Amino acid sequence: MIGPDEGHHDAHRDGLRSAHRSGHGSGLLDGQVALVTGASGGIGRGIALRFAEAGAAVAVHFRTNAEAAREVVDLIVGSGGRAVALRADLTVEDECHRLVREAAGWGGLLTALVNNAGVQPVQELPGMTAGDWRAVVEANVSSVFVCTQAAVEVMREGRGQGDRRDLSDGSDVSGLSGLSDRRGSSGGPVGSITHIASIEATHPAPLHAHYSASKAAVVAHARSAALEYGPYGIRVNTVSPGLIDRAGLAEAWPDGVRRWQQAVPTGRLGRPEDVGDACVFLASPMASWITGHDLVVDGGVSARPTW
Ligand SMILES: NC(=O)c1ccc[n+]([C@@H]2O[C@H](COP(=O)([O-])OP(=O)(O)OC[C@H]3O[C@@H](n4cnc5c(N)ncnc54)[C@H](OP(=O)(O)O)[C@@H]3O)[C@@H](O)[C@H]2O)c1
Repeated sequence: MIGPDEGHHDAHRDGLRSAHRSGHGSGLLDGQVALVTGASGGIGRGIALRFAEAGAAVAVHFRTNAEAAREVVDLIVGSGGRAVALRADLTVEDECHRLVREAAGWGGLLTALVNNAGVQPVQELPGMTAGDWRAVVEANVSSVFVCTQAAVEVMREGRGQGDRRDLSDGSDVSGLSGLSDRRGSSGGPVGSITHIASIEATHPAPLHAHYSASKAAVVAHARSAALEYGPYGIRVNTVSPGLIDRAGLAEAWPDGVRRWQQAVPTGRLGRPEDVGDACVFLASPMASWITGHDLVVDGGVSARPTW
């Protein structure tokens, strides 16, 4: 058995073109500049497209799959949005910092980061080496820690408000707000960071011990970061997807897909856009008082009793 996150590329397209052409995008992220890591992959692509549809300029990160990143950029730019493809290996600390600075330099500022890039190897515990374990932790946890730290730096610089707000005197905590209004960069504290975790953070699957542990770690990191970065006006949350569909998944893992279909109360697998919508919400002014939260996006599977 393998876990629900054996992730791969998917071929979904969304309403991006029609949203831009008709001007009927939500506008929830107008004025924002977002960096989406792992946007050459299935879920990252869905997140990047949803961000663009909501009005954000999007830095589309990739590591090896330049062609997939280019396709996402072309879709966004071709439909009237702003996007750029940026490469980095996020297991290399310097590359994380460079990536974030490039995104902010390109966009003029950075208001949102989605830490989506990750690996999902399937491996049993008895044969797992410390090196195997560390590789997953480096790719899924350390990268999130470093990118978040780098993003906080540029977000604070972008706001011209480098100093931590002293909340000990009971002063107004509106610094926890995201955008002050839908005009984005027009004023007010700006900054949201969303990590893509997994329902496996709380419901581990066999052969995914390192992966499940890594996702639990990013949920914990987000809660800690929400505490420490809240006073700077930066919110940090996680989105925990369930099984997200991709081309060939049903053929590659028929047993898993069948069990998912039996368990899910809403009757379907997830789509990358489901995750994208959750991320757009968390980056938007509608979530301005939400931080340190884990938003489960699984069609209700986690709600099912196990007894
Ligand atoms: N698929 C699911 O059902 C599911 C469910 C819950 C959570 N998730 C999580 O959602 C996220 C995306 O999953 P996915 O299914 O879309 O995966 P995917 O299609 O395999 O994409 C993974 C992405 O991460 C990038 N990446 C991997 N290692 C990297 C590194 N060292 N440095 C920089 N980038 C790196 C890849 O870049 P290149 O391809 O360009 O090298 C790719 O863009 C992951 O964090 C995953 O754990 C997935």
